[in-house]
Amino acid sequence: MKFAYADPPYLGCGKLYAKNHSDALVWDNPKEHKRLIERLVDEFPDGWAYSLSSTTLHTLLPFCPDDVRVMAWVKPFCSFKPNVNPAYAWEPVIVRGGRKRTRTMETIPDFVSCNITLQKGLTGAKPLDFWLWLFTVLNAESNDEFCDLFPGSNGGNHAWKRYCNQQTMFQQKRDNDFKSEALDLFQSTEER
Ligand SMILES: C[S@@+](CC[C@H](N)C(=O)[O-])C[C@H]1O[C@@H](n2cnc3c(N)ncnc32)[C@H](O)[C@@H]1O
Repeated sequence: MKFAYADPPYLGCGKLYAKNHSDALVWDNPKEHKRLIERLVDEFPDGWAYSLSSTTLHTLLPFCPDDVRVMAWVKPFCSFKPNVNPAYAWEPVIVRGGRKRTRTMETIPDFVSCNITLQKGLTGAKPLDFWLWLFTVLNAESNDEFCDLFPGSNGGNHAWKRYCNQQTMFQQKRDNDFKSEALDLFQSTEER
């Protein structure tokens, strides 16, 4: 399967990225986000996720198909600004698709609670726990393809490698457990 994550400059926040992207202000136009969502729908039918700010959800959600889920990144620690009360302490994550889950699989919540990153030197860099939650929500497997459309700090690709290694280790353990159970069963049948 092929999954994508889109984390563009948030609507109205283009200027934060203008130093490195002369065209960053295009992201202040809702039509640019509409085009991006259309691309996600067309190119990534298996599943995708898209981050945005809570203040722009009412503008951007209507561009999404009806079968998306609105999930949340909740930030127990974030920068509280003077005179902004209540603080903006969560971000929506719009998710579509993902690999089907079996009945026996662990249930995943539609939110993740983790602090913002401070040391990445890039506004909007996502923390490791966010990424691992997102891959789990999509029920991604290590032989899937993950496309981070706005890699920024490249944390997504690092997290993807880590997730895939974990998946491979779990798979090997499951295979070994299965083999030793099968061997036990075979030996006990032989003994009878
Ligand atoms: C919210 S940040 C992405 C952060 C990334 N997910 C991370 O965890 O590090 C938005 C990204 O969009 C990039 N960007 C800004 N304007 C762009 C443009 N016009 N075209 C492509 N990328 C752009 C910025 O360089 C920045 O890395």
